[in-house]
Amino acid sequence: MKDIIMKAEILIEALPYIRNFWGRTFVIKYGGAAQVRDELKESFAKDIVMLNLIGIKTTIVHGGGPKISAMMQKMGKKPAFVQGQRVTDEETMSIVEMVLGGLVNKEIVSLINSHGGKAVGLSGKDGALIKAKKKLIKKPSETGVDEIIDIGLVGEVTNVDPHVIVSLEKDGFIPVISPVGAGPKGETLNINADHVASAVASALGAEKLILLTDVPGIIDKKEKIISTLKKQQIRKLVGDGTISGGMLPKVQACLKAIENGVSKTHIIDGRIPHCLLLEIFTKEGIGTEIRA
Ligand SMILES: Nc1ncnc2c1ncn2[C@@H]1O[C@H](COP(=O)(O)OP(=O)(O)OP(=O)(O)O)[C@@H](O)[C@H]1O
Ligand SMILES: [Mg+2]
Repeated sequence: MKDIIMKAEILIEALPYIRNFWGRTFVIKYGGAAQVRDELKESFAKDIVMLNLIGIKTTIVHGGGPKISAMMQKMGKKPAFVQGQRVTDEETMSIVEMVLGGLVNKEIVSLINSHGGKAVGLSGKDGALIKAKKKLIKKPSETGVDEIIDIGLVGEVTNVDPHVIVSLEKDGFIPVISPVGAGPKGETLNINADHVASAVASALGAEKLILLTDVPGIIDKKEKIISTLKKQQIRKLVGDGTISGGMLPKVQACLKAIENGVSKTHIIDGRIPHCLLLEIFTKEGIGTEIRA
């Protein structure tokens, strides 16, 4: 009997959170690096279905870095990155679009639907959701004038039209978005999924932006997880190289979302079963929270 009562108590602990978040939207970035073991993918899908059934709307933006790199290698191409962004020539862009839109997106949609959700896969092109322009990377040089590096068909978001997401959410569908956008001439651009998630969260006026990845959070030089980080501290950690590579777009994405009115942003470990529920329904949360 005691055990059953304890179960009820655990359930009721979620009540204040459900009350606060009912009807709100969370944008969740499902990082490629976190899409690993089958049981973890199942736990992710179950968390998403559960959140939606208790009235929390979720929009998912996924990455797929490791799968893109694996496919490139199979096709005899060597993946290259500059400041955490993939160098994307035309052939790479086709691989990115095939792997993200065809493989990864549909896998996530199927998983959610197999647990009773109603997920719908979209790319940033669908419903004119994401407009982008070519992104040029600036590299500081010794002359003091930034060097501009062209990394190909990589985009930055210029506009999000959330209409298609709002329409789907209204009818109980769960949008799953692959981070590909359309340029000014309709060209296909590869966009970092963290930035897409941030822009979508801003456009939707989301309550939370949660980024799932393959590390416990932001880790300092002593290998300790930093539980809360503010803008000023981030500048220092980027400057001294503590935050680098794939973590750079994440902190930028979180800061931008906060600037645009998203209440809370978190970087959490997608390798922990039910990490979403742990973050949302516990006081302590997990991972790193980025604050203004
Ligand atoms: N200070 C830091 N703390 C934690 N991780 C860091 C830090 N600096 C850099 N990283 C790197 O950032 C990586 C996460 O970004 P990465 O782009 O590889 O994954 P992802 O964004 O989850 O997946 P995808 O890009 O496929 O969507 C970590 O695996 C780690 O190597
Ligand atoms: Mg990444």
